[in-house]
Amino acid sequence: MSNASASLLERRRQAVPRGVSNLSGCFVQSASGATITDVDGRAFIDFVGGIGVNNVGHCHPSVVEAVREQAGRLLHSCFHVAMYEPYVALAEKLCALTPGGFAKKALLLNSGAEAVENAVKICRKATGRMGVVVFENAFHGRTLLTMSMTSKVKPYKFGFGPFAPEIYRMPNAYCYRCSLGKTYPSCNLACADRLEQFFIDHAAAETLACLVAEPVMGEGGFIVPPPGYFKRLQEICAKHGIIFVADEIQTGIGRTGTMFAMEQHGVEADITLTAKSLGGGLPISAVVGKAEIMDAPEVGGLGGTYGGNPVSCAAALAVLRVMDEEKLLERSRGLGDRVRGVFEGWAKELPCIGEVRGLGPMLALELVLDRETRAPAGKEAKAVVAKCVEKGLLLLSCGHHGNVLRTLMPLVASEDELTRGLAILKESLVEVFGQGR
Ligand SMILES: Cc1ncc(COP(=O)(O)O)c(C=O)c1O
Repeated sequence: MSNASASLLERRRQAVPRGVSNLSGCFVQSASGATITDVDGRAFIDFVGGIGVNNVGHCHPSVVEAVREQAGRLLHSCFHVAMYEPYVALAEKLCALTPGGFAKKALLLNSGAEAVENAVKICRKATGRMGVVVFENAFHGRTLLTMSMTSKVKPYKFGFGPFAPEIYRMPNAYCYRCSLGKTYPSCNLACADRLEQFFIDHAAAETLACLVAEPVMGEGGFIVPPPGYFKRLQEICAKHGIIFVADEIQTGIGRTGTMFAMEQHGVEADITLTAKSLGGGLPISAVVGKAEIMDAPEVGGLGGTYGGNPVSCAAALAVLRVMDEEKLLERSRGLGDRVRGVFEGWAKELPCIGEVRGLGPMLALELVLDRETRAPAGKEAKAVVAKCVEKGLLLLSCGHHGNVLRTLMPLVASEDELTRGLAILKESLVEVFGQGR
């Protein structure tokens, strides 16, 4: 490590709490496309994309230009005080882009967690009920309410209680480790039907404001519920007047090959949440939902000082333009097919790969010690990630055992970045687990 990195790392140790984790010791000098360059001039291929934020790539010139232009005119006035057109334009765009052929309205905020919090507030006001249904393996954020909705205890919740009340957790649809011991499709989606039983065992339907679900579980392990699952859940929710909220904070803005992942589940959620890649690197999030639900809170009940900041709105509008102009949904599907093909090839040789799964290029390898027992290879996955970083590839694990390697590379990753990144990943897997068959 050079002097520049070493002295920055020491300053970081002194001034920043250890609870703020770091994947690598890398201090970024600049970033472009799917490559990050550190202060020592070392290049890293980026398969993390700022945790699902850089779908259009790092520092996309159109986004940078839009930010510059907006920053020169208005940095902040607070939408509650003096309004500006980019907020309304972005709300209009999001109402048009989110699934659902019904009248919608959009509330803009700063972070994913803030979007989840506000969705719960709105659902409670709209229904007059308090209960919230969430899932095992869910991740919804780190604020008190969203941490309470998040499933994994260590490190997200450990020692941070007491938690927010009126949150009820359902088993999830994790086919590789089905809690009912069943197999799709012969299971006939028994896990979704359990919601009716849940109303008897845990919380009466008439006390539940909403059900909040990720179309592909992100932090929880890139778990994709089987076809028909969300449709069944939504039907049950609709029957009981429970608002169906899709947390598309990690899956949205083209991550899975469609603008929103629920499109592939054939579901139009009552409320869709988006953040992360929406701002292309600037903090912005949105709650987009049925107009009559969104209008339930009184005037003054929603908002915040910075929500829908003009610079973030300009960045988000530029991101959506780029998605369209550069046909990034098509590119996302191509990228997904390409990486899945490679992963499936590896799975034939490497027994450490228990399952290849995902949607579009939101893909994962679940690593196991043994394919029969499916014992999670958490420590080994950590070693693979460390080796990747050493070799110049940024990669994150996820899942409750930390044994799932996930890809969140920018959708604009070049063939060269992709080939080199995949080569590093394969080499690291082989070094940790051995050659396989
Ligand atoms: C599905 C999901 N919801 C909510 C959040 C929280 O978003 P933020 O970190 O912007 O608060 C995340 C972040 O990883 C997420 O993946």
